[in-house]
Amino acid sequence: MSDREQFLISEEPYYREVHKEIELYEAAYAVRMPLMLKGPTGCGKTRFIEYMAWKLGRPLITVACNEDMTASDLIGRFLLDANGTRWQDGPLTTAARIGAICYLDEVVEARQDTTVVIHPLTDHRRTLLLDKKGELISAHPDFQLVISYNPGYQNLMKDLKQSTKQRFGALDFDYPSADIESEIIAHETGLEQEAASKLVQIAHRGRNLKGHGLDEGISTRLLVYAGQLVAKGIDPKAACQMTLVRPLTDDPDMRDTLDAAVSTFF
Ligand SMILES: Nc1ncnc2c1ncn2[C@@H]1O[C@H](COP(=O)(O)OP(=O)(O)OP(=O)(O)O)[C@@H](O)[C@H]1O
Ligand SMILES: [Mg+2]
Repeated sequence: MSDREQFLISEEPYYREVHKEIELYEAAYAVRMPLMLKGPTGCGKTRFIEYMAWKLGRPLITVACNEDMTASDLIGRFLLDANGTRWQDGPLTTAARIGAICYLDEVVEARQDTTVVIHPLTDHRRTLLLDKKGELISAHPDFQLVISYNPGYQNLMKDLKQSTKQRFGALDFDYPSADIESEIIAHETGLEQEAASKLVQIAHRGRNLKGHGLDEGISTRLLVYAGQLVAKGIDPKAACQMTLVRPLTDDPDMRDTLDAAVSTFF
């Protein structure tokens, strides 16, 4: 299997459009604009990029960034083997060579010296310097860089530099409206709309507590978990406690408040 085929998404991912993000993404891709997907955890960013890669017929290479990541983890490094040294491309280099969409998840976690390697790729140059190898590659015409960014999480110390931010167009993501979110939960779990809509209403109660004792609201991802358990025949109250309450907080008062919200509906 070629590199390109290996990263192609063969089956259509289920994605329910929320605003006009599909059209906006297609227009941005047409001019190969680097994009930033902004929004809280579990609101559909990863699912969206999988869907768009499928729709555009482009390979998708995803990299989960973390604070220990070095530029070499993105670009590549020399490896030792029986025949001596051998260069191995990193995921960003592979993406630039084969014309993939490269999705850097949580890029703000990476150190700044790692972040700057993407600069020449995200302006008119569209190049990537493999400094250790002494090679300058020009990105394939189909290549696009996409990063995700959760505005709530990081403290100011860990923000991206303006010179990085201002290389990207940005799409805002958030939890969808109640109707659309219920539709998503029903689709993902096989639950009836009515039960799905109850889960969404519980999430709305929880989301109102953001900033009042909770750092993050109940995500769409957690609602899918809850729905999956209920669809398996688990008592809805127990399912909600396990997926919508316990993961969010250890604070006994907050747990009581959330448990009470669950009891209103189940
Ligand atoms: N618009 C949507 N269409 C279809 N499914 C969705 C949508 N939004 C959320 N989901 C569901 O929510 C789940 C979580 O979404 P996803 O993994 O894309 O979140 P994320 O924004 O990438 O989160 P994180 O920032 O933690 O990576 C998906 O697996 C999917 O089941
Ligand atoms: Mg994600």
